Amino acid sequence: MQGRRLATTDKLIAIVSPDSDDPLETLAAWTDEHGIDLATVAVGDDIDDVYDENRATLGVTFGGDGTFLEGIKTFAPRNVPLLGVNTGTLAFLARVEPEDLEHALDETLRGRASVDSRQQLHVHGPGVEATGINDVMIQQVPPENPINRKVTRLDVYADDEYVGEFEGTGIAVSTPTGSTGISLSANGPVHYPVNNHTLQLVPLHTHKLGVRPIVVSPETELRIVTQEQASLLVDGGRAHTILTEDDEIVVTGAETLAHVVRTSYDDHFFTAITKKLGWDLRDAEVPPEKLRERRPSASASSETEDTLEHALTVAKEAAEAAGEPLRELHGQVESITVKGDKSDIVTEADHQADRIITTVVHNEFPEHAVFSEESTRQRGEDTDYTWVIDPLDGTGNFAHGNPNYSISIALVDDGDPVMGVVYVPETDELFTAIAGEGAWRDGDPIETTDRDQLDESMLISGYDPDGTFLSHFYQESRGVRRLGSAALNLCYLASGSADAVWEHDTYPWDIAAGLVIAREAGATITDQTGDPYAFSFDTDDRAALLGSNGSLHSALLEHLEESVTTPSR
Ligand code: IPD
Ligand code: CA
Ligand code: CA
Repeated sequence: MQGRRLATTDKLIAIVSPDSDDPLETLAAWTDEHGIDLATVAVGDDIDDVYDENRATLGVTFGGDGTFLEGIKTFAPRNVPLLGVNTGTLAFLARVEPEDLEHALDETLRGRASVDSRQQLHVHGPGVEATGINDVMIQQVPPENPINRKVTRLDVYADDEYVGEFEGTGIAVSTPTGSTGISLSANGPVHYPVNNHTLQLVPLHTHKLGVRPIVVSPETELRIVTQEQASLLVDGGRAHTILTEDDEIVVTGAETLAHVVRTSYDDHFFTAITKKLGWDLRDAEVPPEKLRERRPSASASSETEDTLEHALTVAKEAAEAAGEPLRELHGQVESITVKGDKSDIVTEADHQADRIITTVVHNEFPEHAVFSEESTRQRGEDTDYTWVIDPLDGTGNFAHGNPNYSISIALVDDGDPVMGVVYVPETDELFTAIAGEGAWRDGDPIETTDRDQLDESMLISGYDPDGTFLSHFYQESRGVRRLGSAALNLCYLASGSADAVWEHDTYPWDIAAGLVIAREAGATITDQTGDPYAFSFDTDDRAALLGSNGSLHSALLEHLEESVTTPSR
């Protein structure tokens, strides 16, 4: 989950342990001031009565790590991110102190927090079916007579491969989050938990010198077979059972990730383990000479370059954050609203994506104008900069479960598109460009083709109401494709999977970002007469667009002149 998505949070659910009255009052005042709904439940109670899956919800826990674990159990299955406030004595997971609460929430609501996706584990066997964020321990049951045997033997398999027999007091399988718990005290490795999805198996009080901890992927099935009675505890007893001889337990990575909100008010991981677990390699305060800049210094570049680089970062993050609800809703659209003709439609997904992008842009650049297909249509008056946004380009495809749709975000400087981001949620492809600095897909440079024979070329037609382009070029080229997202069409031209694209007419939000990307990749973009394409905010007077790799442009124009009538729609 992207921290930027939290900018649209409109409901907070707090799980509260006793003795949290003061920070809870602070929270109530803060939510009131920001017009955000607040519901509180006591730790241990369920949230069904106050949770609404249609609201953008943030979970908060007040307490120590026990309360935080309850929060994970409650919020992770609902895909709700969680911020832990430490009102306990020693907390390792809940890392915001009450005095920082308002600042941490401000940062979260501005979309500036990050969200760690934490791996959970899933345990399945006789008498147990549970998900945990920390660990599962399978241990010998203490004998009634203390003089009797105090070890247990467990056969372990990784998928179909026999790992061996573990003899000792038992084993612990932990997630990276749980790696600082019981498995650490059994000499297991410390896992840096951020976006780390491995699981580890650590022997407890083993009698064999050669046995080492094992690290596996979350897809690996660890099968553990008891040779005698054993007790099983998930997350320190949040689920538990007693196993008998020959029981088989399967432990694997859970499909549901836990989303943990991290702000700059949290201790960093190695600072936290230094303070709380006596990590011996450094002091709790990082010496100044060891501090690293989190972002590259921008001092060498000009003010404009700074704005564009910053705008690009924000646009990428906003696009990826808006892609999440689109992926979640893709193929399950319930309500479609027809805006103009029957193909001009909008869904709740368009609005959700729009809310995320416009909020993020406004938070970061309050002085810039925002011109979005689905909401505000400001054009910069006191500013040169206008953000041009199509939160979902290809809604028709989206609504019919077709993966060809995209998110298009551009920055226009005094009428010229100068930065563009097109994100394709279903393939996770990110096309980006800043004017004068080249075009990129997922960080790799892209360029148009150099094909110059029309009969060898692949063309894409966008809006083409009377089918002129299709019928005219179909026989002349290797193919004319009609895919359904104008922004993406321009990116295909930019990255070489098409040699030319055609739009009978377009709206500014359809092509602002794609124009920068295609031009930076080397494309020639004109109207149907060959004049350079002039970007315009005017939605009534829309020009045709012909984009090509350059080498084919004159051949394409020649054919168009013969065939295209004056655009009208
Ligand atoms: C549409 C798509 C389509 C193009 C239409 C646009 P929307 O945008 O870009 O490819 O041919 O002209 O309106 O409505 O899905 O954002
Ligand atoms: Ca569009
Ligand atoms: Ca749209």
